[in-house]
Amino acid sequence: MKALTALLAAGLALGAGSTTRADTGRDVHSYAEPDKVVTEHIHLDLDVDFAAKQLRGSATLSLKRIASGDNQLVLDTRDLTISKVEAAAPNGAFAPTPFTLDKADPALGSALRITLPADAKSVKVTYASSPTASGLQWLSANQTAGKKHPFMFSQAQAIHARSFIPLQDTPQIRVTYSAVVRTPKELRAVMSADNDASQPTNGEYKFKMPQPIPSYLIAIAAGDLAFKPMSARTGVWAEPVTLDAAVKEFEDTESMIVAAEKLYGPYVWGRYDLLILPPSFPFGGMENPRLSFITPTVIAGDKSLVSLIAHELAHSWSGNLVTNATWRDLWLNEGFTTYVENRIMEEIYGRDRALMEQTLGRHDLLEDFAKVDEKDRALAIDMTGRDPDEAFSRVPYDKGAALLFYLEDKYGRDKFDAFVKGYFAAHKFKTLTTEEFIAYADKELIKKNQRGIKLPKLKEWIYQPGLPEDAPQPESPAFEAVDKQLASFTSGKLAANKIKAKTWTTHEWLRFLNGFADKPTVAQMQALDAAFKLTQTGNNEIAHVWLRAAIKADYKPAFPRLEQYLVSIGRRKLVIPLYNLLAQTPANKAWAIEVFKKAEPGYHPLTIGSAKKELGLN
Ligand code: BES
Ligand code: ZN
Repeated sequence: MKALTALLAAGLALGAGSTTRADTGRDVHSYAEPDKVVTEHIHLDLDVDFAAKQLRGSATLSLKRIASGDNQLVLDTRDLTISKVEAAAPNGAFAPTPFTLDKADPALGSALRITLPADAKSVKVTYASSPTASGLQWLSANQTAGKKHPFMFSQAQAIHARSFIPLQDTPQIRVTYSAVVRTPKELRAVMSADNDASQPTNGEYKFKMPQPIPSYLIAIAAGDLAFKPMSARTGVWAEPVTLDAAVKEFEDTESMIVAAEKLYGPYVWGRYDLLILPPSFPFGGMENPRLSFITPTVIAGDKSLVSLIAHELAHSWSGNLVTNATWRDLWLNEGFTTYVENRIMEEIYGRDRALMEQTLGRHDLLEDFAKVDEKDRALAIDMTGRDPDEAFSRVPYDKGAALLFYLEDKYGRDKFDAFVKGYFAAHKFKTLTTEEFIAYADKELIKKNQRGIKLPKLKEWIYQPGLPEDAPQPESPAFEAVDKQLASFTSGKLAANKIKAKTWTTHEWLRFLNGFADKPTVAQMQALDAAFKLTQTGNNEIAHVWLRAAIKADYKPAFPRLEQYLVSIGRRKLVIPLYNLLAQTPANKAWAIEVFKKAEPGYHPLTIGSAKKELGLN
């Protein structure tokens, strides 16, 4: 142990330019010791208890020893009640084995230290999750769309799997899993595994996930769920009242898979289904394998927000197949995915739309560059001592994608597409550090081509803050026309009702409002609202930017809508910036605190945490 620590310290002292996996690849967010023992399979046997807001039962971990002679297994846990730990003898009989639970770290939880007999090949932990588990949300019937049945769902990324399963919670270890899940008999459970719609709704469900996945991709949900197929391998799980609208909105999912396969090789996970969550889901989407979890806030009625599906689908290659080694390397998951997402969008909806989405992404990136510390404007971010939830920004997404667009531009599409496809094939079912990516790109892209870039340029993108000087700027011809009208409107030359917005897509509106929301006045808000009824828009992304402008201009006619928006949606990206703006004047802050109190019972723990921070309620 001493020697390892010394090695790590030496590695860190060398700085980011000359590191190896021994230092950069260490996962500082897990107590697990993957160099000693690794879990190969997890079997879950769980009751979903809505009254107690608990998952209760056991997790049996099948183990492989890496270092012989070690007699301790360290698992990650957070707020779990552990009632029993057993180890299996070679004949399979389980017998109790001693364990201790360390004092909890606020971000990482408690290490569970289990004494591992020399011949033990598996351990069984009997446990219950806490009603306030950070990775679960329990919704009462009236917090769902159908209002008749309760609903629960998990969100494990980045380090919340440990709040509902005791396990080695690091992306460096991949496991297969199986599960038996019991629910109230009128509800159905689904998981990031093989969901069989022909299995009757009877309160007991069995699952198998035969492909090895990192712990952050283990997912479970239970509620009043119905299924409709969209193609032979795609379909939607949703509450019955939401099902048809979702199927219509996401009907292009199969074409998206076909497009991605053409570019990057086969989709290897069998089925690809979507689970539509209640509006309190804290993210837009989560790439749980075989079953992406999706916010209902993107069901706009016109497919304008379906890039989210392209994004979660893209993770089937970048993230789920080729996985970041630690949360420092998140850009390998999200940057590649944002790039692949845009390529899929281009294939299905055309270059104009893809360019608009790239350009909107750049706007969000520049906004976040201005918000985060300089060190967080690099791609590989030092996460030591930090909670991954708190270091979240657009940087790994849009700067990561910008690097890949830049490389595409330097090497040409043919060469670059072949490189990315080869990268996925070479690392499938593996994890990768940033430094391993650099070495691979140096060998397979930079050294193999005369033209292109030199290695220091790649390192500049990855380790330096911001965008390099020669970073291309995405430009959308459609947006140039929008910008002209915005300039005429804000300078008073063009009346609101003369803005030629009849044929504008959601993207053009977002472009207009992003620019407008910088310095809006009440008079301008009134005129736009009279002409375009923006306060009433049913598009949640447009509503978000419009409500930002309303707060900045203190345009009170939009505040009832603002309240309704904040109370009915729990997606962090949509609500937190609104609380942030409201907190900037004492009167609005007081109002926002009242709204937050009404909204809080329906929010996910992550959204509650972020909102409280904005409102100074901690
Ligand atoms: N994997 C992410 C969500 C995530 C990232 C959760 C890091 C926890 C830690 C998911 O694929 C994602 O990126 N969702 C985005 C949508 C996307 C279109 C940018 C979101 O939720 O906004
Ligand atoms: Zn993502």
